[in-house]
Amino acid sequence: MAEYGEEDGFMLPVDDGLFADTFSDDSVYKFIGQELKISQVFSANLGVAAPVWDAALHLCRYFEENSLNLKGKRIIELGAGTGIVGILAARLGADVTLTDLPLAVPQLQSNVSANMPSSGWPSVAPSVLPLSWGQDQHVFPMDWDLVLGADIVYLSETYPLLLDTLVHLCKDRAVVYLSSKMREEHGTPGFYGDTLPQRFHVKLEHRDPTQNINIYSATLRGKQ
Ligand SMILES: C[S@@+](CC[C@H](N)C(=O)[O-])C[C@H]1O[C@@H](n2cnc3c(N)ncnc32)[C@H](O)[C@@H]1O
Repeated sequence: MAEYGEEDGFMLPVDDGLFADTFSDDSVYKFIGQELKISQVFSANLGVAAPVWDAALHLCRYFEENSLNLKGKRIIELGAGTGIVGILAARLGADVTLTDLPLAVPQLQSNVSANMPSSGWPSVAPSVLPLSWGQDQHVFPMDWDLVLGADIVYLSETYPLLLDTLVHLCKDRAVVYLSSKMREEHGTPGFYGDTLPQRFHVKLEHRDPTQNINIYSATLRGKQ
């Protein structure tokens, strides 16, 4: 709605929508009987961390269609964005740590709080922590069951950092599940075809050719 502001005696039209650099969109998603209220905070700062990406919805659907048992699993999610994947896992009884760059942590925390069941979290409340790939992974333990990531393979300069992070987190026993839009122009197929296989056994678990989204599992090579 247009309002008028006074400046040096002139009445200037002020469109408050024009200058607002932040707005949020609240959506409800349903997977595996869980209703998830997810807020997407669009602002200049958050960038790609703001929306729920299709790859995240595919990963949630993959858990649903394959009846993956997440109860009691120790799970860390990388580049969690809105947190929809990790929050679903926590609602199903997993012990979840959601991570992203520091700027995305407030959005993650607020979505976690908004999705606490009235009876409390079935296992433990999810943790939300900053984790920048290639920098912070050593602060995190290595004893995860699952490492999850949705649409986190899109910046080729981060691929070596992401690989180092995955190697650290998977030293004990973790299985990685990554869901990706396969963007040729961002080198995504190369990450799965060349970079990841340097250290991991990689398996294509699911492909949606219409949306060009693949889901891979990976386990660290050379563990006895
Ligand atoms: C395309 S978004 C995907 C968000 C969410 N996983 C989803 O699918 O809806 C990519 C995410 O990776 C995070 N990210 C990018 N570079 C990163 C880095 N170097 N370390 C940690 N997170 C990073 C971004 O902040 C963002 O949340």
